[in-house]
Amino acid sequence: MTEAKKLYVKTFGCQMNVYDSERMAETLGAQGYEQVDTAEAADMILFNTCHIREKAAEKMYSDLGRLKPLHDAKPDLKIAVAGCVAQAEGEEILRRQPMVDLVVGPQTYHRLPTMMQAVDRGERVLDTDFPEEDKFVHLPQDRRPMRGPTAFLTVQEGCDKFCSFCVVPYTRGAEVSRPAERLLREARDLVTRGVREITLLGQNVNAYHGAGLDRGEWGLARLVREMARIDGLDRIRYTTSHPNDMEDDLIAAHGDCEKLMPYLHLPVQSGSDTILKAMNRKHTAESYIRLIERIRAARPDLVLSGDFIVGFPGETEADFQATLDLVAEVGYGAAYSFKYSARPGTPAAERAIVDADVADERLQRLQSLITAQQRATQEGMIGRVVNVLFEKPGRKEGQLSGKSEYLHAVHCDGPEALLGQIAPVEIIATQSNSLTGRLTAQP
Ligand code: 5AD
Ligand code: SF4
Repeated sequence: MTEAKKLYVKTFGCQMNVYDSERMAETLGAQGYEQVDTAEAADMILFNTCHIREKAAEKMYSDLGRLKPLHDAKPDLKIAVAGCVAQAEGEEILRRQPMVDLVVGPQTYHRLPTMMQAVDRGERVLDTDFPEEDKFVHLPQDRRPMRGPTAFLTVQEGCDKFCSFCVVPYTRGAEVSRPAERLLREARDLVTRGVREITLLGQNVNAYHGAGLDRGEWGLARLVREMARIDGLDRIRYTTSHPNDMEDDLIAAHGDCEKLMPYLHLPVQSGSDTILKAMNRKHTAESYIRLIERIRAARPDLVLSGDFIVGFPGETEADFQATLDLVAEVGYGAAYSFKYSARPGTPAAERAIVDADVADERLQRLQSLITAQQRATQEGMIGRVVNVLFEKPGRKEGQLSGKSEYLHAVHCDGPEALLGQIAPVEIIATQSNSLTGRLTAQP
C-alpha cells in the first residue's frame, strides 16, 4: 500500500469557508489525501480564501508568498487556492504566484478529483465556473465531523441583496437553497457521528427557500422546526441573517422552538438612514429597532450580535453618531465592526472615501462602545446557571471548554466524560472573551 498523501488546509474568513474546507478535505480524502496540521508536513497545501475586505485578500497573498522556501525545498508540493479570492481574481492568482497549481472557486470544488488528475500531469488548473449542477450532489455523501460535537451545515448560498459595498453577490453568486430532504439527511448523519449542535449556514440564511418534503417550498423556520425533530440533535443555530428576511414564523420559532438557541447575529451595518440607503440595505434604523423588539418579545433573553461598517463613503459625523445611538439603544452581547474597504466591482467602490484617520478614529469609538456592552452582557451572566455543550479539554489540566446557549465560551473543571455532553454550569467569573463557571451537578 502506498503511503497516504498529506493535505494541509488553511481557512480564511467566514464559517461558510470552514464548512467548504471540511467538504474539500473530504473530497480529497476520497482521493487518498490525509489531513495534517502543518504546512511543513504536507504534499498539498490548500488555502480557502476570503475576499470580503481588502485586508483579507492581502493576507492570503502574503501567506502564499511565505510558502516559497517550503516549495523550493519540495518542488513536488502542490499548492491550491480556493474560495472567494479564487473566484474574484482567478487568472490573476496564477499570474502573480507561479507556485500555484490550482485555482478553484466555491461552486466547483466537487470537481477537485478531476482537477487533481490534471495537476498531477503537471498542468495548472483554473475552474471558477458557476455550473448548473449542484456541487452538493457530487460531494461524498457521508459527512465526517471534524470539530467535535458541533458542526456547520450550509443550507443556502449566495445573495441577491446587492448591498453596495459587498462582493458576496459576485463571488458566491445568486441565492440558491438546498432541498430540505438532503439537509435533513446530512443533519441526521452528523448526529449519528456524535454531533449535538448544528449551525445552519448561508450568506443570507434566513432567505432560505428550499424544496420542502411536501413538494412546497420551505422557509428557514420550517426547516429549523423539522431539524428540531431529530433525536439526539440538541441545539440549532443559524447565521448570517438579513433584517428584511426575519419573517413572522422565524421570530415565532425563537419563542417556541426549544432547540433554537437564544443567540442571533443580525447585522444592521449602520444606524444612519442616509447611509443605509446608500448601502442599498432597504431597511431603516427604526425598522431594525422595531424588529429587534419583536424578536425580544418572542425570546426575552436573546443575546444579539451584529456587524457594522464605519467610514462608508459619504458618512458624516452625524451619520456615525446615529450608529452609536443605535448600538446604545439595541444593546449587543457581541458585535463586529469593520472599516469600510472598497471592493473592486461593487457600486460603492466608485464613491469618494472618508479620510482614513477619521474612519480609524470612528472605528475605535464604536469598538469601545461594543466592548463595554459585551462586558456588561458577560458580567450579567455571573451567578446564572447556563447549559454548556463541552467541546474540548480546556487549556488547564482538568478543565473543559464549551459554549453556553448564548454562544459564550465557558471554562470549568470537570471530568473528560463530559466532552460532547451538555451540563448545567454556574457562571462565577468573566474574562475578556470567555466565562468561568462550576458544574452545578456532577453526572
Ligand atoms: N468593507 C468593510 N466591511 C465589509 N463587510 C462586507 N463588505 C465590506 C466592505 N466592503 C462586512 C459587513 C458584513 C461582514 C461579513 O463584513 O459588515 O456583514
Ligand atoms: Fe453582502 Fe450580506 Fe448584503 Fe448580501 S446581504 S450583499 S452578503 S452584506
